[in-house]
Amino acid sequence: HYELERFEEGNQRFRGAKQTFYRQMGIFSAGMDFLMNLMTVCVITFGGILIMANQMDLIDLITFTLYISAFLQPVRRLSNFVEQFTVGMAGFERFQGLMAVKPEIADKPNAKPITNVRGDIEFKNVTFSYDNDVQVLSGVNLRIKSGDTLALVGPSGGGKTTLCHLIPRFYDVTDGVITIDGKNIQDLTLSSLRASIGIVQQEVMLFAGTIMENIRYGRIDATDQEVIAAAKRAEIHNDILQMPDGYQSYVGERGIMLSGGQKQRISIARIFLKNPPILILDEATSALDTITESRIQEAFTDLSKGRTTLIIAHRLSTVREADSIVYIDSEGIRETGTHSQLMERDGYYSSLVKTQMLTDN
Ligand SMILES: Nc1ncnc2c1ncn2[C@@H]1O[C@H](COP(=O)(O)OP(=O)(O)OP(=O)(O)O)[C@@H](O)[C@H]1O
Ligand SMILES: [Mg+2]
Repeated sequence: HYELERFEEGNQRFRGAKQTFYRQMGIFSAGMDFLMNLMTVCVITFGGILIMANQMDLIDLITFTLYISAFLQPVRRLSNFVEQFTVGMAGFERFQGLMAVKPEIADKPNAKPITNVRGDIEFKNVTFSYDNDVQVLSGVNLRIKSGDTLALVGPSGGGKTTLCHLIPRFYDVTDGVITIDGKNIQDLTLSSLRASIGIVQQEVMLFAGTIMENIRYGRIDATDQEVIAAAKRAEIHNDILQMPDGYQSYVGERGIMLSGGQKQRISIARIFLKNPPILILDEATSALDTITESRIQEAFTDLSKGRTTLIIAHRLSTVREADSIVYIDSEGIRETGTHSQLMERDGYYSSLVKTQMLTDN
């Protein structure tokens, strides 16, 4: 019930703040009302006394009462204005604070676009930490030759996703350099860098819209035919035809729900449209059924042809075909080599393979 307690705590705090606010507002507006009504009472009482003493006539009193109420009207409006103004200003300040936040990762002033990407990727002594506290990666050296496939394996939390996110510069390295075709990625424009990388995330986010729009996001100017061709190659076409409105089915809030495997295949279809020279696939950790899994694998093998590919694999069948395999855990890179080399070495990788073969049978 930890979540419930946290929620309850938040509610209490919110209620406390609102309570204070309403109490203050109540005191203020009741006070204003009291003063205004008191004025009217005074005027009528003293006016009455003066009339009885024949020092004032009725017309004067009525005129004066009207005058008082004409005077009180704007005062009341002013006090309302003050109330609304403070609320409005608080909101405006929050908005300004939000708009003033600059993105940490931006183009250098003399950044150049990268063109004709071959896709040679190199990590040189890369160190990275999210909050300067715990080093997720330290002294990572890696080389992926153009067109090769490198598989990352290792236990959960080892830093595989983190390592992949450094290439499109979702985060900047703390130390060391990453180069593509020998160029430091920090010297390139972000738009050209990201245009040359296709990434299938561990958790795919789709936006509210139709399936067609979601796939077309890979390349905005693609025709319907091209979108459908990409969906076929990504092995998602038949699933889409099963949906109530086919390609026009709405996903997102109050739309149809897609499974994790379907989302990943939609994201693969996007990349078929985008056609980038560099590819990153972060396989879903959640259990997919064997059919879905083999379909994703087939689509991905097709996709990775002729591209530099980095794949984070949880299934060892995917890994076996890779040109090289890197075993990474919280201590860093432990082993690098091909499947047969690492099996012969009889270290981390081979024990991982053995456990998985045990669980699979
Ligand atoms: N946005 C973040 N902010 C702070 N710490 C993070 C963030 N993302 C990941 N971490 C931490 O960095 C470490 C590596 O996480 P990462 O997601 O790279 O692991 P992984 O190897 O991809 O694991 P998995 O196999 O479960 O996907 C973990 O200790 C994690 O808690
Ligand atoms: Mg991960």
